[in-house]
Amino acid sequence: MSGANDPYDPKQVAALSPAALAAGVAQAREALAKAADLDQLRAAQAAHVGDRSPLALANREIAALPPAAKSDAGKRVNAARTEVRQAYAARLAELEAERDARVLLEESVDVTLPWDRRITGARHPLTTTQELIGDVFTAMGWEVAEGPEVEAEWFNFDALNIGVDHPTRTLMDTFFVAAPDGSADSGLVLRTHTSPVQARVMLTRKPPIYVICPGKVFRTDEPDATHSPVFHQVEGLVIDKGITMAHLKGTLDHMAQAFFGPGIVTRLRPSYFPFTEPSAEPDLLCFVCRGESAGNPNRPCRTCDSEGWIEWGGCGMVNPRVLRACGIDPEVYSGFAFGMGIERTMMFRNNAADLRNIVEGDVRFTQAFGMEA
Ligand code: DAH
Repeated sequence: MSGANDPYDPKQVAALSPAALAAGVAQAREALAKAADLDQLRAAQAAHVGDRSPLALANREIAALPPAAKSDAGKRVNAARTEVRQAYAARLAELEAERDARVLLEESVDVTLPWDRRITGARHPLTTTQELIGDVFTAMGWEVAEGPEVEAEWFNFDALNIGVDHPTRTLMDTFFVAAPDGSADSGLVLRTHTSPVQARVMLTRKPPIYVICPGKVFRTDEPDATHSPVFHQVEGLVIDKGITMAHLKGTLDHMAQAFFGPGIVTRLRPSYFPFTEPSAEPDLLCFVCRGESAGNPNRPCRTCDSEGWIEWGGCGMVNPRVLRACGIDPEVYSGFAFGMGIERTMMFRNNAADLRNIVEGDVRFTQAFGMEA
C-alpha cells in the first residue's frame, strides 16, 4: 500500500475508514455465520480473523499514520477486530456444541441390541470326551502316553503276542504301508489299535506304570452308522507289584461312573485277546434302563436292545509273554490293560446314533450336543 515516505492523509488510507472497517466486520460476520461446520469455520477464521484478514492488514497500516491519527484509527480497528473475534468465538461455541450433541447421538451404544448372535465354533465332542478321559485318570495320578499312528508291525502285532500266523493278525483289517520301492513289506502299518502304545511304554518306562493312551486308529472298514476307517480308542495299562483283576474291575467301574453317572458299573465277560490272560470284555450297565429291561418284556430298552448291558471294549491281565517281550519280569510284576472305542463311548454319552456325524465336522452337530464352546 503506502511507501514509508509518502505524505499520509488518514482519510486516504481507505482500509482504515470507518466504512471500510464496518464492511470488513459485516463480511466477517456473514462468513462466520454461514460456516455450517467446524471445517468451514476454520476457513472463515483464516479469511476474516487471522493475520491475513482485511482487518489485520488494515491494522498494519496504522504504523504508517501520522501520530495524531494513530490513536483514533487504532481504536476503530481494535473495536472492529474485537467484534469479529467475539463473533468467531460465539460461532465456534455454537458449532462445537452442535458437534458434541451429534457425536453423543452417533456414538451412543444401544445396550438393548442382541450381542450374542455371532456363531463361534465349538470344540468337537470327541475332543472333549478325550479330555474328560484324561481328567478322570490324571486325577488318580496316571500319566497320558502317546505313540505313532504309522506303527511298526512288531509293535502293532508281535510284541502283543500276535504272531505272524496268528488268526487275529488277518482278522484285523489292516492298512499296510507300502515300502518306498512300492512293495508291500515296509514293516509298517497304520496302527489298528492303541495297544502298541502299551509295548512302547513298557520298553521306555520302569514300573510302576499307570498310563492311558488315547489316539487315532485305522481299519479297512467301510463307513456306516457304526463303522469308520478312522476312529479313536483309549488304552489303559497298569504294571505294578501285586496287581490283580480286582484292580482292573475297580478301575473300570470308576471310569464308568465318571462317564455315565453314579451306579453305572461294569461286569466282565470272559473273552480272548492274545495280549491278555485271562481276558474279558467289560460290559457297561445300561445307563438308560439301568439293567431293568433284561428279561422284562414290559420295559423294552432301545439303548441296550433290552440286554441290560452294553459292550464296552476289551480288557484283561497283561499276558506274561507280552511282559517278557517288553523287558518286564512277570515273576515280579503283573498288570492289567483295557481298551475301548472313544466314538462308541461318546455316542452313548451323547445319545448320538450315527458315527458319520462325528467325523463329518458339521458345527451344527457339535452345537446340537450341547458341547461347551
Ligand atoms: N486292542 C483291542 C482291540 O482293538 C482292545 C483291547 C482288548 C485292548 C483287550 C486291551 C485289552 O488293552 O486288554 O480290539
